[in-house]
Amino acid sequence: MNTNILIAGGSGLVGSQLTIILQQSGYQVSHLSRNPKKSKIPAFYWNPDKGEIDLNCLKDTDCIINLAGTGVADARWTEAYKNEILNSRINSTRLLAKILKENDNKVNLVLSASAVGIYGNEAPLLTSEDAPAANTFLAEVCRIWEEEALKIQSNKVRVCIFRIGLVLSAKGGFLKAIATPAKFGFGTYFGDGAMMNPWIHIDDLCGMFLHAIKNKDVKGIYNAVAPNPETNKTLVQLTAKALHRPQFLPGVPTFILNIMMGEMGPMLLANQNISAERISNSGFEFKFMRAKKAIEDLLS
Ligand SMILES: NC(=O)c1ccc[n+]([C@@H]2O[C@H](COP(=O)([O-])OP(=O)(O)OC[C@H]3O[C@@H](n4cnc5c(N)ncnc54)[C@H](OP(=O)(O)O)[C@@H]3O)[C@@H](O)[C@H]2O)c1
Repeated sequence: MNTNILIAGGSGLVGSQLTIILQQSGYQVSHLSRNPKKSKIPAFYWNPDKGEIDLNCLKDTDCIINLAGTGVADARWTEAYKNEILNSRINSTRLLAKILKENDNKVNLVLSASAVGIYGNEAPLLTSEDAPAANTFLAEVCRIWEEEALKIQSNKVRVCIFRIGLVLSAKGGFLKAIATPAKFGFGTYFGDGAMMNPWIHIDDLCGMFLHAIKNKDVKGIYNAVAPNPETNKTLVQLTAKALHRPQFLPGVPTFILNIMMGEMGPMLLANQNISAERISNSGFEFKFMRAKKAIEDLLS
């Protein structure tokens, strides 16, 4: 059994919840962070951009989970910010690969985040992991990120990559972004709201990491999305309903979105119908198959 788990970027939205779920399941969890002193759980220093890392992080570690990366939607996509989005993911993955190669360790499992952004902004037909990477900026980031993570795979180390959809959490990310205006009756969708959004409840995402830790047959690439994607408009309406608020505003027109968000605009309008079949076939059981139940659970 893998007992000692090191989470890179464990201080973030997914990492914080994953830490709780892993600890509740009996695992010892520590983090890799650029600010370990701020952490409430054992944490080791690293700074992937500078190539710095406290090698003590490897001591006793059986499994590394890499969630590190600059927030994709946290700032306007200037060239400098796009470089940060890419480099933070590539440098962190490469640094992990380097220390595993150069130092004695007993790591036998590496789990890495990726994103459904790899499929681009138009993936209307049920899209499986076999689909090629698109040619958008985010798709390119994911492609290189995955390529670097897969290089860690060996006879000793199993690698598993999750192409994560829109994570639904009450604490941040997509749901918080639509719930905050909805609380004041100003909930609104993007464009005509008809595009499919591949969502996932944060507990199911954490459950997938746990599933991969427990099952040796789980390896390679998996879409980490719920089996029933919903339109953007439906997700906004379900959120308003769960908050007992009216939803009456029309969608934010596409041209305004593009002016406000710049190059990030098309990502917000992405139409992605992503398949959860591979992870389901591996034996993973979703707690939240439907967005209505997921949103009610998180906002009640
Ligand atoms: N949330 C979503 O909806 C979603 C969807 C698809 C994919 N993902 C991917 O899943 C992963 C986790 O998502 P999340 O929502 O938990 O992200 P998050 O809340 O932004 O947390 C990511 C963590 O990465 C670390 N980090 C930030 N910039 C970094 C840099 N330049 N170098 C090294 N580390 C850096 C930070 O930890 P320290 O400050 O402690 O170093 C931060 O806590 C991310 O890679 C994200 O791209 C998330």
